[in-house]
Amino acid sequence: MDTIVSLAKRRGFVFPSSEIYGGFASTWDYGPLGVELKRNVKDAWWTSMVRDRRDIVGLDAAILMAPKVWETSGHVQNFHDPLVDCRECKMRFREDHLAEQGYLPDKICPSCGAVESMTDTRQFNLMFKTFVGPVEEDAATAYLRPETAQGIFVNFENVLTTTRRRLPFGIAQQGKSFRNEITPGNFIFRTREFEQMEMEFFVHPDEADDWYRRWVDLREQWFVDLGVRPENIRRDVHAAEKLSHYSAGTTDLQYHFPWGWDELEGIANRTNFDLGVHAEASGRKLTYFDNETNEHVVPYVVEPALGVDRAMLVFLLDAYHSEPDEKGDDRVLLKFHPRIAPVKVAVLPLSRKEPVANLAGEVWDALRPHWFTQYDDTQSIGRRYRRQDEIGTPLCVTVDFDSLDDNAATIRERDTQEQIRVPIPELPAAIREKLGF
Ligand code: GAP
Repeated sequence: MDTIVSLAKRRGFVFPSSEIYGGFASTWDYGPLGVELKRNVKDAWWTSMVRDRRDIVGLDAAILMAPKVWETSGHVQNFHDPLVDCRECKMRFREDHLAEQGYLPDKICPSCGAVESMTDTRQFNLMFKTFVGPVEEDAATAYLRPETAQGIFVNFENVLTTTRRRLPFGIAQQGKSFRNEITPGNFIFRTREFEQMEMEFFVHPDEADDWYRRWVDLREQWFVDLGVRPENIRRDVHAAEKLSHYSAGTTDLQYHFPWGWDELEGIANRTNFDLGVHAEASGRKLTYFDNETNEHVVPYVVEPALGVDRAMLVFLLDAYHSEPDEKGDDRVLLKFHPRIAPVKVAVLPLSRKEPVANLAGEVWDALRPHWFTQYDDTQSIGRRYRRQDEIGTPLCVTVDFDSLDDNAATIRERDTQEQIRVPIPELPAAIREKLGF
């Protein structure tokens, strides 16, 4: 984990937030490569959820919503974590995490080792409150959304009437969520501000179980298709007592993180809980009329919910490889799938001077409209390859002195280090074939 955190900082993926003021606990900023990686992860999800499917549409709801939404959804009442403090060292823990790690009932503090030092459990609501209006005392209280899902439920009627969808259909959304986590940490794994990608799939109640199982399969396959090693993913089916207040069944996809297996994504059968409670509280009919059976049904909802930042951490961890090069030195590479690699192609001239630099500039101009590229003409070619390997660039294009005569360039592959010579006019087609898109 330390290796990834340091690589992420050194190469411009992730910076500690507000660093010049000493940082701000568990908040992170995405640098030039991080922001590309993030876009690619979000695009891959959006493509697989919305663009490639016939039955899912998109939405972008507001972060600030009527407080009634959170009262009705159960978040004001139930969105708590159990909090305990060590009286000796004053460290604060989530009781459920301590229990999972075997520290209760002896109440041994995992930080200082004190016995029977834990306070009684207090319930702590995770929602951030803020004020809407210029004068704090008079202003209305609002919450920063702790999940994107509720924006979808309260727009169910709008989407249904504007798109004339038939069941089953889904609504997908990506956006920031906020939780005042008691124990944020492990880099970008658990933070207080994070981004979610959630899809609410509305189905006939009789089909909910079947779709729940299908979405677990589809979501696991998505990670594998984007290069995550299958042996690093497993499923954790929640026992009845661990289920959220809205769920009739939840399966977590877990990843084998450096600290052990932990949650990556949750897939839940949310039943008709959300539409049911919002219909009752708002007085609106959040039902679906089935023409074939002539009945009004409150659809069930199957929800795959994933954190963008957590997915990025998994892609970074899983891509990291270190292997000996021909001299026995370490070659560090991020074996990103080409779709999520921040830089797809690097153009590397063998000389900084014209006419090689001039030709390399033309090659760069020809490739930039197709893919996110980098141009690097500093230091030896070996070092430049290493730099691109370390940020996961799948292909490098080298323009050399021979290029001036044969109007060809060399494509070098990140993983195999194989090199082929390709006529410059044919570079875009050859690169497209190698990248796969
Ligand atoms: N709408 C359901 C829901 O929000 P969740 O299991 O609480 O379910 C879904 O969150 C996903 O969001 C998690 O599996 C995780 O990937 C991500 N997530 C949740 N809390 C997070 C946090 N504090 N920091 C980063 N990601 C988080």
